[in-house]
Amino acid sequence: MKIVDNSSSLLALHKVTKVFQVGTFLSKVKIYAVRDVTLTIEEKPMVFTLVGESGSGKTTLANALLRVIAPTEGSILFLGRNIQEYKQSEFIRLVQPIFQNPYETFNPLKKVEVYFRSVINRLRIADHRGCAFEKVVDQALNSVALTWEEVRGKYLHEFSGGQLQRLSIARALMVNPKLLVADEPVSMLDASLRVFVLNLFRKLKEEKQLYVIYITHDLATAYYISDRIAVMLRGSVVEVGPAEKVLLTPLHPYTALLKESVPNPYKKQEKVEFQEQEEHVLEIEEYVGEGCKFVLRCPHAKDICKKEVPPDVSVDGAVVKCWLYK
Ligand SMILES: Nc1ncnc2c1ncn2[C@@H]1O[C@H](COP(=O)(O)OP(=O)(O)OP(=O)(O)O)[C@@H](O)[C@H]1O
Ligand code: SF4
Ligand SMILES: [Mg+2]
Repeated sequence: MKIVDNSSSLLALHKVTKVFQVGTFLSKVKIYAVRDVTLTIEEKPMVFTLVGESGSGKTTLANALLRVIAPTEGSILFLGRNIQEYKQSEFIRLVQPIFQNPYETFNPLKKVEVYFRSVINRLRIADHRGCAFEKVVDQALNSVALTWEEVRGKYLHEFSGGQLQRLSIARALMVNPKLLVADEPVSMLDASLRVFVLNLFRKLKEEKQLYVIYITHDLATAYYISDRIAVMLRGSVVEVGPAEKVLLTPLHPYTALLKESVPNPYKKQEKVEFQEQEEHVLEIEEYVGEGCKFVLRCPHAKDICKKEVPPDVSVDGAVVKCWLYK
């Protein structure tokens, strides 16, 4: 999580914090959805996964990366430049979102091709009246194993959920972006389509040199697809490193707790265990302290853990936010 060299990184987040204020004028409560996230993603095509339980701040961080919300504090550099400095037309050519629910991406009353035409019109990618339109769309569709022939003239209800998610990915690919930010993109798909879409991300990374930020609370898919993983807990990144290392030999006691959920095709109950942990977390949600967010559940907790925010420590190619390693 230490910034080593911003100029050679794809993304460099420095102390990114997002505070939401909820409640009335008289009783305002501050929610630290994301707190002090300092993180670098190097410029090398990869699937970088943000994993964490519900409410840990994944979507808030994704929205900050997509400029949907502005951080309350901190900065985000994309290719060495603050993301706020990019013109909107520049930014959407570089960074594209993929959402959880493909049915919300498309209006049921419009032909799906309308969306492809509007991207092309807006960004002047091709002359939409001529054959260039079909060429650009066909290329984008081919990368998600669809063709223009299959899509032309059709409405939302004529596609399956998996096809729609592939269409939303194709639409994002039309601008030839550098980075996809995919927030729970497969959680609404059934198992076989899930694998298909995840494989597609891997293929896009390899063939198109794409960067994918994959956001999930599901460790099984995280393990399957990721090159690097950042584990989020209550707004903070508590461990980041190579996916296999983080999930198989975790350093942070919280990641160690999650390790039980690492996919094993022979152990069916693993995902259930993770969900139970999520419920347990929600039960103690009211705890807000200055020290480590995991202190109430940590078997290794020391006095200092309650009082001071743990430092980020580099250990064996990973970075861990924990007093145990200081
Ligand atoms: N617009 C908002 N106003 C107030 N609080 C918010 C807002 N958006 C998010 N939060 C709060 O910020 C915290 C982080 O939410 P966020 O949606 O980023 O979590 P998440 O990790 O994406 O969760 P999930 O896995 O359920 O999608 C939660 O406590 C949430 O209630
Ligand atoms: S900082 Fe302390 S409480 Fe937090 S995970 Fe490490 S040892 Fe446990
Ligand atoms: Mg979310």
